[in-house]
Amino acid sequence: MKRFWMMVLAVGLALAGPAVWAQKFEGLAETPPMGWNSWNKFACDVNEQLIRETADAMVASGLRDAGYQYINIDDCWQGERDARGFMQADKQRFPSGMKALADYVHAKGLKFGVYSDAGWKTCGGRPGSRGYEFQDALTYAEWGVDYLKYDWCFTEGLKAEGAYQTMSQALRQAGRPILFSLCEWGTSKPWEWAGKVGHAWRTTGDIYNCFDCVKDNGDWKAFGVLQIMDMQEGLRAHAGPGRWNDADMLEVGNGMPVNQERAHFSIWAMLASPLIAGNDLRQMNKETLAVLSRRDVIAVNQDALGVPGWRQSAVDGLEVWFRPLAGGDWAVMALNRSTQPRRLALDWAKLKVNDPVSGRDAALASLRYDLRDLWTGRASGHTGSPLSAEVPGQDVLMLRLTPRR
Ligand code: GLA
Repeated sequence: MKRFWMMVLAVGLALAGPAVWAQKFEGLAETPPMGWNSWNKFACDVNEQLIRETADAMVASGLRDAGYQYINIDDCWQGERDARGFMQADKQRFPSGMKALADYVHAKGLKFGVYSDAGWKTCGGRPGSRGYEFQDALTYAEWGVDYLKYDWCFTEGLKAEGAYQTMSQALRQAGRPILFSLCEWGTSKPWEWAGKVGHAWRTTGDIYNCFDCVKDNGDWKAFGVLQIMDMQEGLRAHAGPGRWNDADMLEVGNGMPVNQERAHFSIWAMLASPLIAGNDLRQMNKETLAVLSRRDVIAVNQDALGVPGWRQSAVDGLEVWFRPLAGGDWAVMALNRSTQPRRLALDWAKLKVNDPVSGRDAALASLRYDLRDLWTGRASGHTGSPLSAEVPGQDVLMLRLTPRR
């Protein structure tokens, strides 16, 4: 009899599995996060007035109503820890304190994000969260933080999965739902494990404000839009509602010509990457605002199915990408990487578009779809006849295909 109960206990323990750790907050990123982050434009030059004015501009420009939610301060908001180890904002730059700033952002109908680092110091040399994870998570929760970007500088001796798990658990136990965005640059393949820990993970090193270049900084490199896009190869199956490949913050509005901005934004939409604007929202030109608020393209990014697109073909610098959308629709992006115009010729009925990730087949030979150009908003025929169009250099043609019923 005693043996029997021992067996029951052993089976029970085996079923319970290893010590269970708290799971991340669910439901915070069913579609890719949208918002703004200070880094690409302002780097360490952040202060509370900038953040307030950016929140104002997010509303006044209509971007909030187009779906952008988060106002995120990146590196360099931190001052020193107090005598008991609690993190303080830089007193010169944030004299009113973080709680007041979070309140201001919330009063605008927006959400508030901060940045920290798994190591001793942030990349900008401010205090990191290593050894203070639970204390920092409590502090963020008390301030009313909604989003944490968590970087990977000064992490000697740490393993990424464990370090990010620690902060994930700290956030969970602090009790306030905070979207957790991992910034580990893809080194330890976070797509393989980060879906359990957080809501998005950077897949590459930093973006650089150019369309097609690599910036070599000696011991690290930064990458243009096309280079970042190419590095997403093979990652699409890991993303989905609640867990996203993050291709880094947008450079739209930081000086690229509008054709490149359009292509950059379309690519991020096809990849289902977070859409985190990185420009000065207080002074945007009309073109930039039009790109950032293009609702038809945002709708592709925010599609409920949550399956990123893939490169179906590439000939002579002209690529054709497909992305399955909820309800049987498809997004198609023809991207011209070259600087010269290219002629796009698509004989729809002959294309085999079959997606192992979503299990969807576009069945273009038998189904007929209506086409809509997502940048002009115009209806542009149907898949019953071949498409022929010129795509200007470093630009896109982006279409939505809707099956005829
Ligand atoms: C790293 C990150 C960037 C930015 C800076 C801040 O480089 O990848 O996105 O947060 O740190 O110092």
